[in-house]
This record gives sequence, structure tokens and C-alpha cells, in this order.
Amino acid sequence: MTDLQLDLDPTLGKRAALEAALRDAIRNGRLVAGQRLPSSRTLASDLDMSRATAVAAYGQLVAEGFLLAEHGRSTTVADVPNPPPPAPMRHPFWTTPRFDFRPGEPATDSFPRRDWLRSVRHVLQDSPDDVFGYADPRGRPELRMALASQLGRSRSVLCSADSISVVGGFASAVSYLAEVLMKQGGSIAVEDPMLFLHRDLLELAGLKVVPIPVDGEGIIVDRLDGLDVGAVLVTPAHQHPVGATMSAERRSQLVAWARETDTWIIEDDYDGEFRYDRKPIGALQALAPDQVIYAGTASKTIAPALRLGWLVLPEGVRRAVQRQIHIRAGVSTVDQLALAHFIESGTYDRHVRAMRANYRDRRAEVVERLAAVAPWLEIVDHPAGLHLTARILDPAVDEDALVAAADEAGVGLVGLGICHIDPTTATHRGLMIGFGRPAQHNFAASVDALVEVLAAFR
Ligand SMILES: Cc1ncc(COP(=O)(O)O)c(C=O)c1O
Repeated sequence: MTDLQLDLDPTLGKRAALEAALRDAIRNGRLVAGQRLPSSRTLASDLDMSRATAVAAYGQLVAEGFLLAEHGRSTTVADVPNPPPPAPMRHPFWTTPRFDFRPGEPATDSFPRRDWLRSVRHVLQDSPDDVFGYADPRGRPELRMALASQLGRSRSVLCSADSISVVGGFASAVSYLAEVLMKQGGSIAVEDPMLFLHRDLLELAGLKVVPIPVDGEGIIVDRLDGLDVGAVLVTPAHQHPVGATMSAERRSQLVAWARETDTWIIEDDYDGEFRYDRKPIGALQALAPDQVIYAGTASKTIAPALRLGWLVLPEGVRRAVQRQIHIRAGVSTVDQLALAHFIESGTYDRHVRAMRANYRDRRAEVVERLAAVAPWLEIVDHPAGLHLTARILDPAVDEDALVAAADEAGVGLVGLGICHIDPTTATHRGLMIGFGRPAQHNFAASVDALVEVLAAFR
């Protein structure tokens, strides 16, 4: 006799809950064809219900064909064909492809292990004991001072240590800022397309997300006219995902609109250090330090695993954001001080310079090989960041089918489609090709695999 372990849904009536639990157990194979079930009396007693309820539930499932009842014999499980298992959910970041061109990650095999270790050792050996207590929620002063001078030098950001708050990467900054914006009207304009993760975070916090299209010069500022939003989130150095650098004209137009409407601009400067054809273009923040909330991260320059990022906060919003950070305080002081040492010792600049040269070569190789093999793809000409954007020119080429064919061949790619918000204006079709991810020893083989997939497609 089967000893039945059934989880009854407490939100249903007893009979309905028993029927649902039996159906589930049969469908998912926990109860198999021919298996004998307990008598209705035993079942009723085990589940603390009346025998009439158990009899009725058995009767219902017999009528539906899930159970068989022959007079004088136990009730048994019928032979119900199992429905096909649901298709596994596909998410571009749930598996690790062999040849990995998904965007968003730097070369993890180039993590400066020895230098980082030296910085951590310095912190552990030389810091006074009070370092191991609770820290200033804005972040350690040593790091904020190091960042203030680093950001001024390398990104033209106008800031002081006082205006900086250390955060756990931009992802946590998005959540803090969203909380503040919820108290200031509850809506935000964003670039469409944009990184889907950040959109999720904004919506999770309850914000209304207003999509604004982008073109080759960045966000189309005219489309902001008449909008009443608390902030606009932009990626001026390297629009994510289409790659555009925001033009000088758009920058001043955006700042003028923000001032006029008293709206915050959130500048996500996630990979601004990486520019390959000229000196990196300075941050938008320098045009309007009182209006722009600047956000930077160590995720591309060093590694996402550190979860270290920073905000430069204009005075008007500083206390509100600092309060959010304070409530949830949480970036390791040891890591903060290690980064301060890493910057002050010149290692950060040296590492970024070396990686810039490495990524420039990687990008050039991918561009050259793709141009030769897939004339139906146009590489968008923005030599910056850790991914390049390849636009699909041929309307007959389906983006999803292309990504799926690559996936079959072990080549990880992400299409622009998942970044679109408004399907009626989803005009950007193509691929984000992250050239930072493949390990150096696997890079040539990865490019070969990528080229092979694209050459065979179509
Ligand atoms: C558009 C964009 N912003 C910011 C980041 C960095 O996020 P975090 O600092 O949370 O690692 C990324 C990382 O992929 C990104 O693609």
C-alpha cells in the first residue's frame, strides 16, 4: 500500500486540495501507473478529513481518468501519458558557453591577482584596528580621496571626497537611486534599448520606466520634451547596448533639458575607461556637476567579483541617497581599502592601460574576421568598451534564430532584442559581441568558432 505524502494547498478547500495534489503527483511521476492507493478511509484519517471528502476526490479523479476503481479492489493509478516536460527557460547568463562572447564581463583570466593580493596584504598588515569596525556608510575616506583624484584625472569628473559614496557596484546603486526616486514622483526615463537587468531593478522598486529611443548619437533628447520624470538614466560613453557615444550636441541638449525641468541625470559610466581610437571622452558630469549623478564601477576595469562601485552625488540629492546607503550599508572595508591602495600605488592606471591595449587587439581581430565572413552584419563603428555591436542588415536574418544557432555550436552571444522595452520602436536588430570574456588561451579558437557559426548561417 502506498504511503502517500501529499502537500495540500491550504488556500483551497479540502476536496479541491486533495484532487490537485493527486493530479500533480500523477503528472510529475511520483505516483506511477498501477500503483495502489490507500483506502478512502485510511486516506481520510491520515489527512484529517471526512471519508466522504476522500471518496468524492477519488471519484472525481476516476472520472477524469487519473485513477481506476474496480469494485472490491483498491483504487489504482491509471496510465496517464506524461505531458512533455516544460521547455527549459532560456536566459543568456544561466550557462557558460565554451566560446563565450556574451557581453558584460572583462577578461577574468587577467585579474591582477598578485597586485590585488599585495593591496589586501597591505591593508591587513598596516591598518589600525578601528578599520575592522563599522565604517562610514559613505565609504572609507582613503578610498573616497583616491577616487576623487582618479576620477578627475581619468574621467574629468568634478568631485571631492565628500561628494562620493562607495556602493556595491552599479546594480546596488540603481536600487538606492530608485528608492529615492520613488519618494520623488516614481518615474524615470531610460534609454531604449538598455541593460535588461537595470530595467528589472527599477521596476522592482516600483518605478514607472519611460523608454526613450536612441540613435547613433545616443538618447534622442527631443523625445524627453513634456515628460515629467524624476530622472533620466543614460550611458553616454558607450550606449548600452548599441554602442553609440553621446555626441557633444546631445550632451548639451540633455543638460539644458535637465536644468530646465529640474530632473536628475544618472550617468552610468560603466566602461568609459576603454576607448580605442582616441583618448577616452570625459564624463557628461563635468558639464553639470549639480545636475548629474555620476556612477562608476570596478566591474570592467578590474573585476565584477569585487562588487565595488561609486557614486558622485550632487548636493541636492546627496543626503537622500546617503540615507538609503546607510540603511543597507554593505561594502567590505577591507576591499575598499585594498582598492584605495591599488589606485594610490599606480597599479589601477597600469592595469587599465594594459587591458586597454589587450581589448583593442581583441576587438580589432573580431572586427576584421567578421567583416570578411558576414557582409550581412554591420559592425557599429564605436571603438570603445568591452563589447561591439553588430547590426543585422538583412531583414531575412532572424536575430533569435542566429543566437540559437550560435548556442548550438557552443558560441555564447546575446541579441539586442532582450534589451528593447517598447516593441513598437524596436528598430535595433543585431548582436552584442563581448570580446572581453574568452580566456586569452582560448581567444583564437573562440573567434574561429564565432566566424564558423556566422559563415554557416543564412
Ligand atoms: C550598462 C551597464 N552598466 C553598469 C554595469 C556594471 O554593473 P555593476 O557595477 O553592478 O557590476 C554593467 C555591467 O555589465 C553594464 O552593462
